[in-house]
Amino acid sequence: MTEKEIKQLISTALDALKNSYAPYSNFNVGAALLTSKNKVYSGCNIENAAYSSTICAERTAIFSAVNEGEKNFKAIAIVGGHRGNCSDFCSPCGVCRQVMTEFCGDDFLVIFGDKNLNYKTYTLDQLLPHAFKRED
Ligand code: THU
Repeated sequence: MTEKEIKQLISTALDALKNSYAPYSNFNVGAALLTSKNKVYSGCNIENAAYSSTICAERTAIFSAVNEGEKNFKAIAIVGGHRGNCSDFCSPCGVCRQVMTEFCGDDFLVIFGDKNLNYKTYTLDQLLPHAFKRED
């Protein structure tokens, strides 16, 4: 991906964060998932009074894409922070890494972005090495 494409994906994630519903943690997250056909699905975290019913932004994006019949993905951009202030990078939780593993290859690109469109990138294999996969 070019730097311009990466920054565009981070911008979409920052837009998605505006819909984040996080009245319990006040930690708002946005994600933007790029399919191999270059379509983008976004997601935000959605919390619940029964805390464990919460879903992360990354899974909101992945599940909405799968719900539309998409199963091939290139990259995801993630932004997040307390009260939506994305001054630091937000790392995906273990559950989201496992869900990424279900649908994405080892070289799937995970982009940690901030509000100034600074970023760092990792492959999924770097974030969840020795993962338990479908073939297991
Ligand atoms: N959260 C995400 O949406 N994605 C992450 O990668 C980390 C955590 C959400 C879940 C919860 O609503 C809030 O952030 C605090 O954990």
